[in-house]
Amino acid sequence: MSQPERHLPGPGAAISTDLYLDRYAARTAGMTASEIRALFAVASRPEVVSLAGGSPFTAALPLDTIGDMIAQLVHDRGATALQYGIGQGEPLLREQICDVMALEGITASPEDVVVTVGSQQGLDLVSRVFLDPGDIVLAEGPSYVGALGTFAAAQAEVVHVAMDDAGLQPEALRQALADLASRGRTAKLLYLIPNHQNPAGVTLAEERRDVVLDIARSAGVIVLEDNPYGLLGFDGEPLRALRARTDDGVLYLGSFSKTFSPGLRVGWVLAPHGVREKLVLATEAQILCPPVFSQQIVSTYLATQPWQEQIKVFQEIYHERRDATLSALEQLMPPGLSWTHPTGGFYVWVTLPDGLDSKLMQPRAVHERVAYVPGTGFYADGAGRSQLRLSYCFPPPERIREGVRRLAGVVEAELELVGVFGAESGRQPRSVPRPGAEDRGEPPTRPRLVVPL
Ligand SMILES: Cc1ncc(COP(=O)(O)O)c(C=O)c1O
Repeated sequence: MSQPERHLPGPGAAISTDLYLDRYAARTAGMTASEIRALFAVASRPEVVSLAGGSPFTAALPLDTIGDMIAQLVHDRGATALQYGIGQGEPLLREQICDVMALEGITASPEDVVVTVGSQQGLDLVSRVFLDPGDIVLAEGPSYVGALGTFAAAQAEVVHVAMDDAGLQPEALRQALADLASRGRTAKLLYLIPNHQNPAGVTLAEERRDVVLDIARSAGVIVLEDNPYGLLGFDGEPLRALRARTDDGVLYLGSFSKTFSPGLRVGWVLAPHGVREKLVLATEAQILCPPVFSQQIVSTYLATQPWQEQIKVFQEIYHERRDATLSALEQLMPPGLSWTHPTGGFYVWVTLPDGLDSKLMQPRAVHERVAYVPGTGFYADGAGRSQLRLSYCFPPPERIREGVRRLAGVVEAELELVGVFGAESGRQPRSVPRPGAEDRGEPPTRPRLVVPL
């Protein structure tokens, strides 16, 4: 049998040990490990204060009670709870999901709800149903890293739209659509996280909500509203969801990950009737049905436990941690930084002084035993080097303060370096050409930074 012909890599080409490299589907080109995943290994070491991951504080759940509840569920209904289910999801849970959404003003029929494996699968389903390679998705800049990954896997192009402290700027949205129109293009989806946005921590202001919907509607762009943090506000009632204002042209993603448990992986999509049918076909092709056991746990929890009281417990915990983060930033950071003031959710978005680069600073931060996520992870276009995301959801207040204290030390050291050497020459690792690279006209490569831990 003849061996398949193997081509030797050209000079300077990256050498891969992956023998399947030339067989992968084109869409895998968009699949790269996120900044956050790469960070998890180091950030989870006990000596590191991680302000990086967005893990909810599940230790605040009444774990013994939930244990008893699950035991009872298996005892009473184990044979069905451990069985296959239907693609759209358990009917009772879909009714309960409508009650949850009613808290944010949404009136919906359980018929239009599709239960998913977390809202992450909802993102994937919507992408499968709506996006062809090359389609354009408008998204806030910055935006949720998991959504960017899903859009990249669908080979869509993400165009970011600027935000400020009141969320997406309607004028920037108009401009983005006009720029696309001038290229003879339009967008398929407008992806938004209107409440306590990940990663920016800002909320789309009440007075902007109808404006944004109107702009999207007149441009024929479907709004994809992703709302895992809506019930985790610290002051007052949640704002009415976008989907509560119109059921025309809005797809809504919800999740129990932040209000109950991310480990159960239960989320949902609420979609207009025709779209819902396509989503069910897509989910059946992908997973047959969402896990019945997880769904029944959530359903039993909602039916038998004081879940709204538990959400208040979470709100209080995150509120205290948000306060700890903001006061530590205020007291410990050198001048020149700015940050957002979230009114809910998990995240603060920090902007560094001129000349500092959050990605280059990261190895030093990890060395100083504090982890954050560089801003670049939240943009599809390489922006975000002068920003970073801090998550306050998991560490207790005293750890948050210690983490911010360490980070402040790192920022001060970076500022000193930039002061001495300048942003370009002093701080950035020197570029080293490979032998003979100049003759071959190759760009220089950066040496890898090795972090002693
Ligand atoms: C904005 C946003 N959307 C979706 C998700 C995915 O959540 P899950 O799949 O756990 O429901 C997250 C998780 O952090 C998120 O922040």
